[in-house]
Amino acid sequence: MTDATTLLQRVSELEAGALSQIDAAPTTDALEEVRVAVLGRKAELPNLLRGVSELPPQERGQVGKAANITRGAIERRLAERKEQLAGAEEAKRLAGDRLDLTLPGSPQLHDGALHIITSTWRDIEDVFLGLGFSVLSGREVETAHYNFDALNHSPTHPARADTDTFYVNDDVLLRTHTSPMQVRAMEIYDPPLYVVIPGRVYRRDYDATHLPQFHQVEGLAVDKGITLADLKGTLMAFARAIFGGELAIRLRPHFFPFTEPSVEIDVACFNCSDGWIGTERCPVCRGEQWLEILGAGEVDPNVLRAVQRDVYHPEAVQGFAFGMGIERIAMLRNDIPDLRLYIENDVRFLEQLR
Ligand code: PHE
Repeated sequence: MTDATTLLQRVSELEAGALSQIDAAPTTDALEEVRVAVLGRKAELPNLLRGVSELPPQERGQVGKAANITRGAIERRLAERKEQLAGAEEAKRLAGDRLDLTLPGSPQLHDGALHIITSTWRDIEDVFLGLGFSVLSGREVETAHYNFDALNHSPTHPARADTDTFYVNDDVLLRTHTSPMQVRAMEIYDPPLYVVIPGRVYRRDYDATHLPQFHQVEGLAVDKGITLADLKGTLMAFARAIFGGELAIRLRPHFFPFTEPSVEIDVACFNCSDGWIGTERCPVCRGEQWLEILGAGEVDPNVLRAVQRDVYHPEAVQGFAFGMGIERIAMLRNDIPDLRLYIENDVRFLEQLR
């Protein structure tokens, strides 16, 4: 039998018990357990309140109201205590996580750098872009036609020997120089043509002064009335941009099948010109005072004919061409004594040239 007075008394006992448990809960987890024990589905208070329906109608209002007030008081106290505990727990967590923003960064971080061949390649490109040339790239696997025949090599030229050239088959080879791109460029583009073509080349050589794979930059200018003076002016501007100062260049007679006349170009030794005062010979030019930097010449009429286009007929246009080794330019410019340093990837060497 339920009666209002007993019910009210039990409610106020439960309220007092609940509030003191809430206040005593040490953590938010413990508080959640208290909430379930006090207001959860199996808790005494909610079940007891269901008994209100068994009371005579005139008593229900009084008990129901008291019960709602009690429930509200417990919920409010739960919320307050929860906020209090959560705040304290958060503060404790943050204190444990404190970062020292004044600590130095990790000393393990290394930034990368361009390889000296790549940076020299780009420097050379930049000089010619500044002179109004465009940059093309070619193919490393070439045909004997473009590598030799179209470049006016006789059928018995020694460079064709398979002791010098890597062949894929009788007609296909790894290009031995970037010059095949002279003819390809003229096949594709109309004159006036001002291009440089950097890239890898291959020869069957391997010793202290030769690598089986190395890099060249080809240059080709074809226009009306091009002379050797244009070649000299262009390459003097190049030499000064790459080696610095007001360095002189000189042209020495030479031979290439695809240029006529052909020259080798030397630049005045920048080390001697700088006022080398050592008692021994200058270590850069070994006392020669000149450094050989590239091969060049006027484009041979037979090469223009091999293009088989009227706009490139030798009566219509003239041209100059040159080819240089990137390894050699980088060696001279950075005083690198041995070609093999380029491919050994010794970090101590690479670090010095970053
Ligand atoms: N192809 C020549 C070489 O590899 C260089 C060169 C290029 C010479 C263009 C003249 C003109 O040695």
